[in-house]
Amino acid sequence: MLKLKSPADFIGKQGPGVISFGSGQPDLPPPKEAFDGIDIKRDLRYGLIQGELKLRQMLSHEYPGSTADNFVITNGASEALDLVFRAWGKGKVLLPRPYYYSYLPIIQMAGMTPVFMDLKDGRIDIQDFKKKIRGCRAVLINSPSNPTGRVETIETLKEIEKITRKLGVYVVSDEVYKDLIYERENYHIKGDHVITINSFSKTYCMCGVRVGYLWSADKKVVENVCEMKTHTSMNTNLVGQDMALSTMNAPKEYIEKQRLIWRERRDFIYKELLDLGFDLWKPEGAFYVLPKCKNPRKFLTTLYQDHKVITYLGEWFGAPDRIRLSYALDVKQIEEGLSRMKSAMKKVRAI
Ligand SMILES: Cc1ncc(COP(=O)(O)O)c(C=O)c1O
Repeated sequence: MLKLKSPADFIGKQGPGVISFGSGQPDLPPPKEAFDGIDIKRDLRYGLIQGELKLRQMLSHEYPGSTADNFVITNGASEALDLVFRAWGKGKVLLPRPYYYSYLPIIQMAGMTPVFMDLKDGRIDIQDFKKKIRGCRAVLINSPSNPTGRVETIETLKEIEKITRKLGVYVVSDEVYKDLIYERENYHIKGDHVITINSFSKTYCMCGVRVGYLWSADKKVVENVCEMKTHTSMNTNLVGQDMALSTMNAPKEYIEKQRLIWRERRDFIYKELLDLGFDLWKPEGAFYVLPKCKNPRKFLTTLYQDHKVITYLGEWFGAPDRIRLSYALDVKQIEEGLSRMKSAMKKVRAI
């Protein structure tokens, strides 16, 4: 019997005939520039804890008014998030729910206290935000969101930017899906009180390379994070940083082409799930859907054990009455996975 304690039961799991709607990892190739960056004879001594200067300089062109000093290159966005909260080590963090499954453990392992704010129709309710933000050290924003696929409105993001600035509360803005938006323009939250988290995992399809970063205008945040990183992982993988740097030379059409592919998949899975009778929010970005589901544990277990289909429990994302599917798969696989799901629905009542 599957324990289904956390996504760790499924991460990295593959096998003949398995269709995984689990991990949010793009199946598409990285740009060819990523491989051009690999020099197998490079200097492999320890690198700068803060990250390779050339990569930080290159990133600074994407953040107006920034310099290389505003960045720390990390082992994916995951390490950036972990270090930011652990460097604080106490206080409250406002957390929109449903949330990305690592947020809660990261906040708790840092010794901080989550304050939950339930999403309304998959998005932040600004009135609730105004009530709960007082007394918090930070709020964690993720737009487009994993697991909801929703994108916050520009109005909401600007309001959050303004209120937090006034109250002296940090915004940790996880923007790993910022290039994967289908419905509207994005808005990049700015300011001295903002810590932006980003990654090469999703935009450039390099999850396994483990390169991400944080941006902050606050020198103390950068210093504290570097201090902690010095005594934990030390520098981020140098070969990975070379790959990330050369990836940034990829033509911008690479991102646009990917986005069109994701949108086609989004349209397909959204319509098919509606046709199967599921109740779900229409994803506006990223590559996730979070349909409501009766008997989610039983359904997930049947799907995996009888039909070799991996899906995630909504419970891991703070949404116990839902399941989460990543559609980082080609349309044929999505189609096959959903057809198996239809068979499983004959055994377990899911809707
Ligand atoms: C919202 C969000 N943040 C962070 C991460 C972790 O990304 P990385 O591979 O850069 O560590 C993920 C991965 O799925 C994610 O969905």
